[in-house]
Amino acid sequence: MSVQKEIKKVTTNTLQKMKAAGEKITMLTAYDFSFARIIDGAGIDVILVGDSASNVMAGHETTLPITLDQMIYHASSVIRGIDRCLVVVDLPFGSYQSNSDIALASAVRIMKETGGHSIKLEGGEEVLESIRKIVSAGIPVMGHLGLTPQSIYKFGTYAVRAKEEAEADKLRRDAKLLEEAGCFAIVLEKIPASLAKEVSEGLHIPTIGIGAGPHCDGQVLVMHDMLGINTEFKPRFLRQYLNIHEMATHAVKQYIHDVKEKDFPNETEQY
Ligand code: KIV
Repeated sequence: MSVQKEIKKVTTNTLQKMKAAGEKITMLTAYDFSFARIIDGAGIDVILVGDSASNVMAGHETTLPITLDQMIYHASSVIRGIDRCLVVVDLPFGSYQSNSDIALASAVRIMKETGGHSIKLEGGEEVLESIRKIVSAGIPVMGHLGLTPQSIYKFGTYAVRAKEEAEADKLRRDAKLLEEAGCFAIVLEKIPASLAKEVSEGLHIPTIGIGAGPHCDGQVLVMHDMLGINTEFKPRFLRQYLNIHEMATHAVKQYIHDVKEKDFPNETEQY
């Protein structure tokens, strides 16, 4: 029996066991009650209430504008939709970078006001003190290295990170530091597959990849991308499983047609 199948509620401990057993971890983003219900019901291990809500829910160009209050709204909606999976909530830009007391206060708000199970924040050595403080308060922390979208204006582009040896070396060091600071897992975003393999094999905690190849301990995708709700974003790493954009457009056009043609509602669709 797999670790994943015998578990009633997924915890950070379950993810460690899955890594030890060589079982891949599945993670998808969700931002609302209804999709959380579908995704959890389908058997996902982890839902990430990502700050990608800033892009796919609010239509911003970057993840920077979303606020802590908005993340709390999304996360508490998700929590009401799940029974089994672990829920990780992103700390948004500006809610943890200035100092570790503010970081802890933001993490505490997430835990208290959403019922979420853990938080995620971006960065390595720079955010270590904050990670230590949040972990000491009993809050599980997921790290995030490689392409960290909250730093997009520092990078200047969404291209693959850590191709150069100096940046790859920093990432290797940061991954170890995050593990030592008590992170329970690390997202590796858009880095070479060979580097992700090396980092994953060198850690006891699981890595969750996005655009980081097949050797990570798990994979994550943004729900709107993999379901084809948002069809403009087509990076090489994305596998699109559905084209909801097309299906929904077709349904809406049919509804418009039916109303205009006085076909809807019919005799059985009225009181
Ligand atoms: O916010 C998000 O959706 C993320 C994933 C891309 C890992 O951080």
